[in-house]
Amino acid sequence: MSLLQRLRPAALAAPESGIVRVINHARGREGLIPLWAGEGDLPTPAFIADAAAQSLQAGETFYTWQRGIPDLREALADYVARLYDRPTAPERIFVTGSGMHAIQTVIAALAGTGDEIVFVAPLWPNFAAAAGLAGARPVEVPLEIRDGAWRLDLVQLAAAITPRTRAIFLNTPNNPTGWTADAQTIRAVLDLARERGVFVIADEIYSRFFYAGTRAPSFHDEMRDDDPVIFVNSFSKNWAMTGWRVGWIEAPAAFGDVVENLVQYSNSGVAAFMQRGAVAAIREGESFVASQVERAGAARDLFCDALLATNRVRLVKPEGAFYAFFAIDGIEDGMTAALRIADEANVGLAPGAAFGPTTENYLRACFHRRLDEVEEAADRLVRWIGRAT
Ligand SMILES: Cc1ncc(COP(=O)(O)O)c(C=O)c1O
Repeated sequence: MSLLQRLRPAALAAPESGIVRVINHARGREGLIPLWAGEGDLPTPAFIADAAAQSLQAGETFYTWQRGIPDLREALADYVARLYDRPTAPERIFVTGSGMHAIQTVIAALAGTGDEIVFVAPLWPNFAAAAGLAGARPVEVPLEIRDGAWRLDLVQLAAAITPRTRAIFLNTPNNPTGWTADAQTIRAVLDLARERGVFVIADEIYSRFFYAGTRAPSFHDEMRDDDPVIFVNSFSKNWAMTGWRVGWIEAPAAFGDVVENLVQYSNSGVAAFMQRGAVAAIREGESFVASQVERAGAARDLFCDALLATNRVRLVKPEGAFYAFFAIDGIEDGMTAALRIADEANVGLAPGAAFGPTTENYLRACFHRRLDEVEEAADRLVRWIGRAT
């Protein structure tokens, strides 16, 4: 038995990200417009980076609070209160080393071998992979396109819950489709969780990237403090901080000791100087967020309208997040198409298979970039579609 084969089966079985396969195929190619990753093109604004640098220079380099520095927990509680018009105690907030770490921590708190977590897909692949690594079984409930919109079948969702189910993972606005749960759907999911004694893990990291209002409908609008709802969130998208790896959990304050221990035994807390940057993002970052969302909205229209005008794509214009998720008529295999589009059109896309088995013919484009680049990418794609079909 090789050393590799002696690793844990769940670790060996962790799926390869289909997105990375395309990136590795065409990385560094001259003139390629990369729409494959889930991030914008702007670096973190200076006022955030400066706050971190000052803290670092001032010697904030020691071990720190496992739950997050008090200033950041307070800033986040204020942020939640402001955004959702809902008083929120800092004791409900726990800082994590990224949105991904928030998800992993919540899974560790809720589910292990033999447990199930129901999730709504297509979905950014990391949740299901992290559940699998923890020994839990991710159970997919697919969104469907009906009457020109992505829809969640609540009967199917209810039917997926078994005595083993520990939680429903709901990402809204959704990566990759942009589907955004309306208030009625959120109420129904919450009622289901209450009735069936399961948690909701609400991944609302794209809540600010919503194109029909200042923010997407949220579980915050419908819940009571004692409801079984746990939020996972991140600094990555709103404040252009993907490389920082800072996120947070919002959960009942009573979970504090457990979350603290889980953080202690994973990353043992987030560097204090990075948390200072995060405080600046929350306290001073509103106009930056607004400008990001406005630009993404313009890019959405430009990109989606260009593709739709070909009459050869199936694409629901996203209500939220910053992705166009589309299928091209006549193309069955999104992975082969993504590799070809990188080679022949010099545009980098993510293959639909990365987001679940029901969308293998799809492609995802992140349009959160400079408008002239988005326009050029759309032109190249439209020309490629014209040649390919
Ligand atoms: C739906 C969703 N949740 C969570 C994350 C995690 O974000 P991060 O780990 O960068 O904070 C992402 C990142 O793409 C995402 O798309």
